[in-house]
Amino acid sequence: MIYYIDPLNKESIEKNCPSFYDIHIFDILDSTNTWLQEHSGLTEGTVILADEQTRGRGRNGRCFHSPKGSGIYCSLLLTPQENLLDVLECTAMAAVACIKAIEEQYNLACSIKWLNDILLDQKKLAGILCEGKLYQNHMEYLIIGIGINVHSFIRPKELESIAASIEDYTAIKKPRNELIAKFLTAFYSYYSKSDDFRSLYRQRLAFVQKTIQVITPQETYSAILLGVDDRCRLKIQKADGSIDYLSSGEISIRL
Ligand code: BTN
Repeated sequence: MIYYIDPLNKESIEKNCPSFYDIHIFDILDSTNTWLQEHSGLTEGTVILADEQTRGRGRNGRCFHSPKGSGIYCSLLLTPQENLLDVLECTAMAAVACIKAIEEQYNLACSIKWLNDILLDQKKLAGILCEGKLYQNHMEYLIIGIGINVHSFIRPKELESIAASIEDYTAIKKPRNELIAKFLTAFYSYYSKSDDFRSLYRQRLAFVQKTIQVITPQETYSAILLGVDDRCRLKIQKADGSIDYLSSGEISIRL
C-alpha cells in the first residue's frame, strides 16, 4: 500500500550529510545489521541501507517488520576509540538523532522509551538495535541499526495497536533520503561531540515519574522512573525506596 514513490538514492543522501559517511544502498537484504556484522572490517562511517529486509531483527530476538519501500532500514558501523563510549550511549545518540530528524522534517514530537524505542502517540514509530564486539576493555566495533516506519504499511495483527508510521500522523510527504540525511547529520554531531544530545534525551524521555514494570531475564518488578544519568542509565526508585541505575540491554520496561 504505497502511494508515494520514494526511491532511496545514494547521491541525494550524501550531498546532505557529513563526508564521514560511506553509504551503500541495497534493494533487499535479510538484515542490514547482519550484513554489516559480516563485513565489520569496513571503515568507520559505513552506512548500509536496504529498501526491504526479509529478516529485520529487533532486541531480545524479536523481528522488525520491514516491508518494501515503507521505512528506513539503516545500519551504521562505528569503531569508537573511547573506552567509555558504549552501547547505551550510542543507542541514546541514535534515539535523539532520530527524534531531531523527525521533528525537523515533519514537525512531529516523539518520545523515547528507554532504551531503544521511539514513540509517537504511545505507539512505536522506530526501534534501535545496537550490537557490538568487545575487544579487551573497549568496543572493537559497534553497529547501530535503526528502523523507522515512514509510510503507512499493512501491519500484521500483532502490530496493529502498537506500531505507528510517520504517515499515520501527517499529510507531509517528503523523500526518505532527506530524513536519512537529517538523521545521519544529527548523529554525527553527537558522535563527534560538536553537539550535546543529553538535554534533548532527558526532555523526551517517556514515562518520567510514572510507575513502570522492569522486566529482566530473572524477574519483573515495579519501580518509579526518575530519569537518566550522564551515562544514559535509567534511574529508578524501587518499591523499598532504594535508587537503582539500569544499564543492561536485556532489560525492558512497560507501563
Ligand atoms: C527493536 O525494535 O527492538 C529494534 C529494531 C531495529 C531494527 C533495525 S532495521 C535496520 C537494522 N537491521 C536490523 O535487522 N535491525 C535494525
